[in-house]
Amino acid sequence: MSAAGSVTAIAHANIALAKYWGKADAASNMPAVPSLSLTLAALRSTTTASADPGLDTDEITLDGAPATGRARERVVRLLDELRALTHSGARLRVRSHNDFPTAAGLASSASGFAALALAGAHALGTPLPPATLSAVARRASASAARSLFGGFVALRLGAESAEPVLDGAAWPLAMVIAVTASGPKSVSSTDGMGHTRATSPYYPAWVAAAPALFAEVERAVLARDLEALGAATEQSALMMHASMFAARPALVYLTPATLRAMERVRALRGAGTPAFHTMDAGPHVKVLCEARAAEAVAAALGAVEGVERVLVSGIGPAAHLVEGAG
Ligand code: PMV
Repeated sequence: MSAAGSVTAIAHANIALAKYWGKADAASNMPAVPSLSLTLAALRSTTTASADPGLDTDEITLDGAPATGRARERVVRLLDELRALTHSGARLRVRSHNDFPTAAGLASSASGFAALALAGAHALGTPLPPATLSAVARRASASAARSLFGGFVALRLGAESAEPVLDGAAWPLAMVIAVTASGPKSVSSTDGMGHTRATSPYYPAWVAAAPALFAEVERAVLARDLEALGAATEQSALMMHASMFAARPALVYLTPATLRAMERVRALRGAGTPAFHTMDAGPHVKVLCEARAAEAVAAALGAVEGVERVLVSGIGPAAHLVEGAG
């Protein structure tokens, strides 16, 4: 087929309220637990893809540098899947960058693979439905399945694709991200999940408990009940981290600054501001609160020792194209 032109897609990062940690099947990258996330307006990946008949391999540039090793393999594997689905043999030139500081150590795989799936399919000349793109992104990084959609998004147990649960406009919440000083070199989520599953006696307990927590998170979102959502969100993250603490050797992403920021969130709550913490495979603390409380929450977190910077985000939209295809 002929080149379909250059296409640019934007996808937003997401933070899970009901966490995904653990794979039921590594080959299909199927999660062992359901998850539910909030898409974030302030953190975006922008990816441009173009089919070039002159290329015999994909040419991939991530944040200004040619992709190599495992990062390149994961991108090429996703593009191979798109080629199979679109019946195209074209090689692509791909450029992707994140508009949030990579130095902040915030995961970019979710927004990156979601933007890649959308831009790639259009560059190959065959737009695919969001559910198909979500399944393609899930196989690269399960959290990426959720970044195809805006607002509150579920990836149900055993589902190929994520699905929207509630539009962001229906409930004006915010996420305040306290970026803490980085600790020791972090372990990738794939490696961390594998290690937890293989060595932690608490892993089966986490997998058994996660569906009920997911259901609680979903019910709270649909009822727009922040207290109930916050309680389930905090338990989901802490239960996930407890499963890692019990691994051998222990997998500890949390640092003293993480614990101090969590303490500050509890103090805010004690003083009457509904605010709830969650942490992923890193030391940063993400705080869920009402949009109107976000600036006060950000100021409180900014004053915590070891917090290097604070980002405030509203709820983000679905992945979308910013230039016409073809
Ligand atoms: O999609 P992955 O492999 O980057 O894993 C994401 C895992 C967590 O961020 C810790 C939780 C989640 O559900 O996003």
